[in-house]
Amino acid sequence: MLKTHTCGQLRKEHANQQVTLAGWVNRRREHGGLIFIDLRDRWGITQVVADSKTSPEAHTTMSDARGEYVLQIEGVVKARSPETVNPKVATGEIEVCAKEVTVLNPAKTPPLEIAGEREANEEVRMKYRYLDLRRPRMQRNLILRYEAIRFIRNFLSERGFIEIETPILFKSTPEGARDYLVPSRVHPGKFYALPQSPQQLKQLLMVAGYERYFQIARCFRDEDQRGDRQPEFTQLDLEMSFIEREDILKLTEELVTGMVESVSDKKLTHKPFPRLSYAEAQERYGTDRPDLRFGLELKDIGDIASRSQFKVFTSTVEAGNKVRALVAPGCAGYSRKEIGELEELAKNAGAKGLVTIAVDSDGTPRSSIIKFFDDALMAELLAATGAQHGDLILMVADKPEIVNEALSTLRSEFGARLELTNSKEMCFCWIIDFPLFLWNEEENRWDPSHHMFTSPKPEDVSLLETDPGAAHCQQYDLVCNGYEVAGGSIRIHDRTVQERVFGLIGLDMEQARERFGHMLDAFEYGAPPHGGIAPGIDRLIMLMAGEPNIREVIAFPKSQRAADLMADAPSAVDPHQLEELHIELVNDVEE
Ligand code: AMO
Repeated sequence: MLKTHTCGQLRKEHANQQVTLAGWVNRRREHGGLIFIDLRDRWGITQVVADSKTSPEAHTTMSDARGEYVLQIEGVVKARSPETVNPKVATGEIEVCAKEVTVLNPAKTPPLEIAGEREANEEVRMKYRYLDLRRPRMQRNLILRYEAIRFIRNFLSERGFIEIETPILFKSTPEGARDYLVPSRVHPGKFYALPQSPQQLKQLLMVAGYERYFQIARCFRDEDQRGDRQPEFTQLDLEMSFIEREDILKLTEELVTGMVESVSDKKLTHKPFPRLSYAEAQERYGTDRPDLRFGLELKDIGDIASRSQFKVFTSTVEAGNKVRALVAPGCAGYSRKEIGELEELAKNAGAKGLVTIAVDSDGTPRSSIIKFFDDALMAELLAATGAQHGDLILMVADKPEIVNEALSTLRSEFGARLELTNSKEMCFCWIIDFPLFLWNEEENRWDPSHHMFTSPKPEDVSLLETDPGAAHCQQYDLVCNGYEVAGGSIRIHDRTVQERVFGLIGLDMEQARERFGHMLDAFEYGAPPHGGIAPGIDRLIMLMAGEPNIREVIAFPKSQRAADLMADAPSAVDPHQLEELHIELVNDVEE
C-alpha cells in the first residue's frame, strides 16, 4: 500500500504516529516559512504542513505542487493547538508534519473546479466526467448509490430472493420506447434488441420455478430524454410466484422505507404509503404521478360552467368534455405578463387557452369572463373552487386528458413557485387500479397501460372482447414527489388470456408467435401465478440525494442527445466492421 491511513481517518489519538498518506492536492497555501496542503482522497481531507527550516526538501516539493497533483506524504501526526482546531473537518484536530513528499503524478490545471463550489457548464462536466466525479458532491452521490444497492441486496437476500443475471443481447421486450438494435455478424440481416427491461425473462424464471428473483438490471430505451430519463438506466427488477398484489406492495414498501431511512437524510412524510386509484389521482391531481407534498387539488366545475353564458365552457360541456379549475393561493395580484407565462405553460401542455379569475382582497372577482356569469353563479363557482380572498383561479376547458395535463403542469409550477415542495421530504404513494388499455388516437388502437403481460382484474377478463376500455388491470405504480419511481403488476399466466390481449393491441397470431412464441409456449408448461415490480434505481437515488436530474447519480451518463461526450459515443466505425455486419450506410447519414 502506498498509504497507511486515509485522508479522513486521523484523529487526536494518532498524535505522534508516523504515517504515510496519498491523495490529491485540494488546496495549497503559504504562510511565512510554512506551506500547507489540504490532501484529499475519497475519505476526506487532511492538512499537511511542511516547515522550510526542519524539512526543506518536503517544503520545496510542496511549494512546487499545484491543485490536483497526486502526492505521497510521509510524516508525523501532530495534535493542533485548541485555537487552530478546524471543527468543520473530521480530521480538524490534527495535522501531518511532512518529512518526505513524493510527487506520484503532476496534473494540468483542470477545466473545472474540483475543490470549489463553482459549477462548470454541463458539457465540460460530461467531457471531463472523471474530474467531475472527483468533486465531493458526486462522490457523495455515488457512495449513496452504492449504499442503497447494498441495502437492497441484503434486504432481498434475507427474504429468500436470489439474484440472477439475464441477457443484454436479447429480443425486443417492449416497454413503450424504441429498441436499441445490435446487428448480428453470424446471422446476416438479423438483429438482437437490447432489453427495455428484463420483463419476459423474469417471468420465464418464475415458470422455471425460482419463485423469488431479483436483479440490479440495466435497461435500454431509445426515447426522448428528460431529467428523469436516460437511454440506459438501472432498475431493481424483482418477481415472485404464488403471491397477490398485496404481497408485492408490502414488500416494496418495507424495502423502500428501510432504504430511505437507513441510507439517506430524507424524511418519509406518509407512512404507510397512501393508495390512490388511477381515477382518483387523475380527478384530484390531474396526473397518475402526483406530488403529495402539497395540496392544490383540482376541482371539477363543469356543472357550474355549463350554466354560464361563456361559449367556450358551455360547448365543452355539451361535447362531453371537462372544465376544471386550480386555485393558486395568494396569486390574485399576478400581472398580465405573469398570467401570460402561465398560459404559455398550459398551451405547451396542449390546452387551447387558460381562463383566470383573480379574487381581490375584498373578495371581488376580476376576470374577462365575469360578464358571462350572474352574481349567484359566480358565487357558486368561487365556493366550488374553495378560492379565498387574494387567490387566483385557473381554469381549462377541453378533453379530460388535455385539461388534466395542463392543470397538473400548472399545479407543479405552483408547487415550486410557492415553495410548497420541501426538498427534505419524500412523499410516496401507490397508484392502483389502472385501466388495462389506453386508447392510442394516432395509431387507432389500444395500448397496454403498463405492458402487454399485465393481468386484467379477474372480474374484468370478460370485458376484453365487449368493452376493453372499461377493463381494469392489476398494475401498481409507486410515485414519489411527482416522479414515477416504480411500476409493476400481477402477470397473465394463462396462454389464452395472453393471446386475447395480444389480439387487442393489434398483434395477429402469427406476429404474436414470432415475437413472443417462447412466452406463449412457456405458459403451457405449468406457469405459476406470479407478479413483480421494478423500482427505478436512478430516480430513487436522485430523490434521496436531493438532485434535480438522474445524470447526477449515474457515473457515466449520456447527454441530452443520448451521447457520451467523454468517449465520443456513438461514433463512426471502421467500414470493415460494417462490411462484416452486412451493413451498408445510405449517403445522407452525416450529422
Ligand atoms: P416501467 O417501464 O414502469 O416498468 O419501468 C420501471 C421503472 O423504471 C424507471 N424508468 C426509467 N428510469 C430512467 N430512465 C428511463 N428511461 C426510465 N424508464 C423507466 C422508472 C419506472 O417506474 N418491466 C416493467 C416492470 C414490471 O412490470 O415489473 C417495467 O420496466 O422509475
